Amino acid sequence: MATTQGLPRPPAPGAAALPDGTFDGTTVVVTGGGTGLGKAIAAEFARLGARLAILSRKPDHLEAARRAMDELGAEVACIECDIRDADAIAAAFDRIEERFDLPAVLVNNAAANFPSPTEDLSPNAWRTVVDITLNGTFLMCREYARRLLAADRAGSIVNIGASYAWTGGPGFAHSSAAKAGVKNLTETLAVEWGPYGIQVNCLVPGLMPHEDMTADIKGNLAATNDKDACQPALRVGERQELGWAATFLASPYARFISGHTLVVDGANWQRRNLVSPPVTPIRDQMGRPPFDED
Ligand code: HXC
Ligand code: NAP
Repeated sequence: MATTQGLPRPPAPGAAALPDGTFDGTTVVVTGGGTGLGKAIAAEFARLGARLAILSRKPDHLEAARRAMDELGAEVACIECDIRDADAIAAAFDRIEERFDLPAVLVNNAAANFPSPTEDLSPNAWRTVVDITLNGTFLMCREYARRLLAADRAGSIVNIGASYAWTGGPGFAHSSAAKAGVKNLTETLAVEWGPYGIQVNCLVPGLMPHEDMTADIKGNLAATNDKDACQPALRVGERQELGWAATFLASPYARFISGHTLVVDGANWQRRNLVSPPVTPIRDQMGRPPFDED
């Protein structure tokens, strides 16, 4: 008799999903690689021999990235950079090329998000999330591709998305719209740049809780009673599961995969109930009083 055991757990962090040395001698850029999922992705590339360039705004996040890469024995360049700033991005790539070489892989992981009923968002709050998540991803892709094209080199881009790109994300209108843009941009760029040897994919994490999550996101998750039981997999995701998928997409074994969005969420985004549960308005879910324009 089948038991409801959920999807099996993955191997522990540190297990290799690809042959040793898959990224030996290559440079991999990870934006926002000092925290959470970006740090986990950087770690998997490091385990496979890559040297890393981590771009992020906050010195403590850059320091965390340095410590993590040191522990794995990987060379790392930690570069302060706000991905909303095209000049800062160009300067970061100059530094990476001076120190290492032109990167073989770019992972656009940095993003911004906080939950809010849409009617409560200020214009600047909306702009900030879209600017970091969508415009920042565009600026990074643009700078990287221009350098690859000028050098006549191949490369691989992995953009980190979110499944509400397809479904909409009540309580996250700004992030949801921005991630839809990231997924769509991936599809355009894969076609435009494929002829020049540049592969562009998108990778979507499911719920993968971690200690670096912002207070807003942690608060939102705390309202979910049992995170495991709320997933068809009967468990949340583990960070290394995203890291393995990122390294695979950027590896020689995935060269014919481009313009694809890979979802690593145990089918959570496809879940529908046979009988619809009652609707709870977002304001109520967030414990907010009725809208008051003042
Ligand atoms: C409403 C908010 C807000 C909040 C900021 N703002 N936080 N509005 N609710 N919780 C508003 C501010 O009031 C301001 O608008 C505008 O947003 C810009 O705020 P700043 O603090 O000046 O912006 P900045 O310093 O650039 O910081 C960006 C940030 C911050 C997004 C606000 O949280 C950040 O740096 N985040 C980076 C990390 C992150 O977001 N990680 C989440 C990734 S997880 P006004 O009008 O006052 O000027 C993810 C998927 C999770 O994406 C999926 C979960 C299910
Ligand atoms: P996180 O820990 O908050 O990481 C976000 C990173 O982005 C931080 O390291 C931050 O570093 C960096 N960043 C933000 N704004 C930046 C900017 N303007 N310039 C440069 N770097 C910037 O979030 P996470 O949970 O690891 O999420 C990583 C990715 O997965 C994001 O794209 C997110 O949307 C996606 N995702 C996560 C989940 C989940 O369950 N965690 C689910 C779906 C999608 P600084 O503050 O130092 O700049």
